[in-house]
Amino acid sequence: MTRILVVLAALSSLVSVVGAQQPEEVAELAARGEAIFRQPAACWTCHGEDAQGLIGPSLQFGPTPFDIDYQFRSNPQMAPLRELLQPEPEDLVAVSVFLRTFFGAEPADIDVDGLRATLNSVQEFEHVPDYFLTERDQALAEVETFESVLADWQRRAKTGSIKRDYEVREVASFEPGEPKFTPEPGKTYFYENLSTGGAFRPADVAPPESTQIVVGDAETKEIIASYELAPELRGGVHTTVMSPDGKYVYIIGARPFSQAESAFSLTTPQSLLKVDAITLQPVKQLMTGARLHHGQIFQDRYLLLDSFARDADGLDVMLFDPETDRVVGGIRSDELGGSPYTAWTDDEYIYLLMEPLGYGTALGDKTWSGFLAAGQLRTGTLTSMRPFWVARVDPITWEVVNEYPYPGYRGDWIAFDAAREHMYIPAGGSSNLSKVNLASGEVVWAAPTGISPYGANLNADESEIWVANKGETTGMMGRTISVLENETGRSLETLFSGYGVDHLLLAPNGREFWATSNSEGRIYVFDAVTREQAHIIDMPKFAAPHGLVWVHYDENGESRVVRDQGGFHNGIDPRLGRALDY
Ligand code: HEC
Repeated sequence: MTRILVVLAALSSLVSVVGAQQPEEVAELAARGEAIFRQPAACWTCHGEDAQGLIGPSLQFGPTPFDIDYQFRSNPQMAPLRELLQPEPEDLVAVSVFLRTFFGAEPADIDVDGLRATLNSVQEFEHVPDYFLTERDQALAEVETFESVLADWQRRAKTGSIKRDYEVREVASFEPGEPKFTPEPGKTYFYENLSTGGAFRPADVAPPESTQIVVGDAETKEIIASYELAPELRGGVHTTVMSPDGKYVYIIGARPFSQAESAFSLTTPQSLLKVDAITLQPVKQLMTGARLHHGQIFQDRYLLLDSFARDADGLDVMLFDPETDRVVGGIRSDELGGSPYTAWTDDEYIYLLMEPLGYGTALGDKTWSGFLAAGQLRTGTLTSMRPFWVARVDPITWEVVNEYPYPGYRGDWIAFDAAREHMYIPAGGSSNLSKVNLASGEVVWAAPTGISPYGANLNADESEIWVANKGETTGMMGRTISVLENETGRSLETLFSGYGVDHLLLAPNGREFWATSNSEGRIYVFDAVTREQAHIIDMPKFAAPHGLVWVHYDENGESRVVRDQGGFHNGIDPRLGRALDY
């Protein structure tokens, strides 16, 4: 009996030691907790210096460590702080103790071990109950992460040179005609090829009968000359590309002797018209075996052209010499293990936005595969897809030297930073943008954008990347521009812009972003610093602009292209401190 009493007394003294809490321990924890609470950007910023509530509610009720942990895991506003603090369990206990003392609890009344014990229930909280998986569910669960794409990646392209050739045929030549304007030394002009499209043409404006070539003053934004091609030369226009010397514009023309019903189709190969940049009239009609989609200057010498459709022996992507109007080399989907959508360059390599084959059977396996599939993802007809990737081709050996899988579906565009360290891929099928390290292939970040983005470009100090939310592949008419932080991908602002903007380019003065609205037949110009909308340039007859090229005339009246959809050229690059001053 005595012994039992002694044991009980010992136990009760133990309990009383724990229950009483050494005031030093409580004081230490409270100090530690206060330091955490008052750290820059920590609790006080949202809950108030007095913890009585600000953006977040009052904490006077005395949250337990579990309560704080629960918020860290479930409250998106507090998740970044968790990332920053990486709190230990004892940190949570400390903050909890601090808040109690702060609101007047006696140290002796604070049951520290009891508070610690609340964290035991975290495990229970994290426990996921058993759930049922069908075989299909299991198959999906195995491939649903981007990590699994990387782990599974196997080279798609054939090894070795994949170079192909094509003999361009000249089918007609024309007199260039009279000048439409006289370029002035020191001035910069912009060129636009216009299709006949434009969904939002004002009711009192008659649609154009044919495609047009338009020139404007880059400084005043005035249209100074335009020319509508003869209707029999009208093709399905989709880009603006010029020779590096700024003397010729290339625009899609009709097929010679074409049947009327196929003449304007997006999918039939058409001709390439070479147009005098001053008279704006064609001088040659060429058959390249392909219907041009995008074009841009390559290494200030060649034109990198990609095609919407091609003849059986035609090329999907080609390097074209504007001095001889011949193809110097090309690529076909056959060797790539997928279909190239568009081609891009950092002026060293050729980069192809690759799509997995087999989705768009109705229109063959050409580019439409990704477009149709991305649309089907939107409607739920498809619930997932095989991955998309970028193939990097060395134009000297014509080998695919890298394949870069990226998170997201149906990349539409590639932008490069000035140092050629990263590429940025807006993906229309998944409405996100990936920043990829070119040397390692590592995805630095992937971030959400607005609806189905198309074009993207960095600003002059490369602190921001702007993305045109076109609504591509969705049938949904996007009309915003997302501004993201280059370093992190964090969203900085969403700008209101025109419907259906696809090309979005930093101007060669480095101070403006130009956004071409297909749907409205206009160009929106934004101040790149204030992000304000500065001008709207109406295209003649509100026809849809495709492309955008700037040509500069130097003091001696010599012309050169300084900017096109792919990049800056001929010595100009505002990101490297070499902006045009106008
Ligand atoms: C960026 C702002 C922000 C920061 C920083 C922040 N919180 Fe919160 N916190 C909130 C918001 C907002 C809520 C309310 C969430 C809701 O209503 O669902 C909240 C809720 C809570 C709750 C739940 C309150 C309740 O009534 O149930 C606790 C506990 C809490 N925060 C503790 C903390 C602690 C401790 C810190 C610092 C370690 C902290 N928070 C830092 C914004 C913040």
